[in-house]
Amino acid sequence: MNKLLFMLILGVFANAVVAEETDKRQILKLSEPQREHVLQEMRALLSGTQSILDALAKDDMAAVAQQARLLGMTMAHKAEDHLKGALPQEFMKLGMTVHQDFDQIAADAESMKDSKHSLSQLSASMTKCVACHASYQIRTQH
Ligand code: HEC
Repeated sequence: MNKLLFMLILGVFANAVVAEETDKRQILKLSEPQREHVLQEMRALLSGTQSILDALAKDDMAAVAQQARLLGMTMAHKAEDHLKGALPQEFMKLGMTVHQDFDQIAADAESMKDSKHSLSQLSASMTKCVACHASYQIRTQH
């Protein structure tokens, strides 16, 4: 193969790799305390979700309800003031529906006591975690 052509192809390939490694998700510009606030809530969501799964594995539906309720709208209200205006509307809305889902999971765990139903609710709700993470990244302002 022509040496120049080879270098050209190599260059295009390298460019494609670099392009793929660039984070193209929408940027949320936050202050350092706001970032910490969001990430703290995120870690609580992860750890709460793990607690719900643990309770489901033990068929302890009272614990499922209790853990799910901690991730419900009461958790959302705590975050409200601190982040007012800092996050886009759609982001807040998506986040709110996740908290509503957890209140629903709690209510159904109490009334239906059906772990399979709770599992499918949890799985459905977690598609929102996945969707939001695919769309947004946080950067702090300097
Ligand atoms: C409305 C948007 C949104 C939803 C819904 C959402 N997250 Fe996040 N999450 C984010 C953003 C933005 C980040 C920061 C990502 C970045 O900057 O790369 C994040 C980061 C995280 C982190 C990393 C925390 C850290 O300390 O770095 C965890 C864990 C996490 N999310 C868990 C979850 C779980 C579990 C759910 C669902 C139950 C969830 N998130 C739902 C937006 C969301």
